[in-house]
Amino acid sequence: MAGLLITFEGGEGGGKTTQINRLAASLNARGHKVITTREPGGTPEGDKIRELLVRREGGDWTAEAEVMLIYAARVMNVERVIKPALAKGKIVLCDRFVDSTTAYQGYGHGLDLQWLRKVQDLVLGNFSPDLTFILDLDPEMGIGRTRRREAADALHVHQAEDRYENLDLSFHQKLRTGYQAIAQAEPGRCILIDASQDAGAVEKAIIKYVDDRLA
Ligand code: TMP
Repeated sequence: MAGLLITFEGGEGGGKTTQINRLAASLNARGHKVITTREPGGTPEGDKIRELLVRREGGDWTAEAEVMLIYAARVMNVERVIKPALAKGKIVLCDRFVDSTTAYQGYGHGLDLQWLRKVQDLVLGNFSPDLTFILDLDPEMGIGRTRRREAADALHVHQAEDRYENLDLSFHQKLRTGYQAIAQAEPGRCILIDASQDAGAVEKAIIKYVDDRLA
């Protein structure tokens, strides 16, 4: 049986991590084989690249250089983690994938969308997620959620990863517009989910879409 690649996308504070964990638990409980991964990251090499990208002390990369770093991490994740799991018939849940690059580096930082598409085609060919959930949220609400999470987080893990989160509100609004455009352009793959609902309602909607796809 061929596996299934499901990606989770959206701006900050949309609840991707919670939803990935809940979906993984639901699928596992029903006997599916599930793995979770994230981008940038997913492999030890990719995690090193993540450090360069998400921490302010990681360096002052241009947007194009960021794309190269992101794709170096991505190709490792795809070849070493995602494709082998799919070949074993597993369901792969990936926290961010190509749509993050389109939204953040394209719509957010203003890189040419066709150039980004060329890089994607060159590196990944026609490899694509089967299903993508875009957790759509008013950026003011999302940033508020992120700040509250950081305040409650005794380990301050997220505070260290604040380079993108600290960009101004207009940047986050561009991201939202970008994600909405992506969802509109690829309705067969992308599902825009209203992430202002409570986590239980979002979880229910996601599980229903996944079950329909697995049926
Ligand atoms: P997060 O997924 O934990 O929110 O953090 C990852 C950060 O990296 C997030 O701010 C978005 C950013 N990012 C990009 O800018 N482009 C990408 O292609 C990916 C995968 C992530």
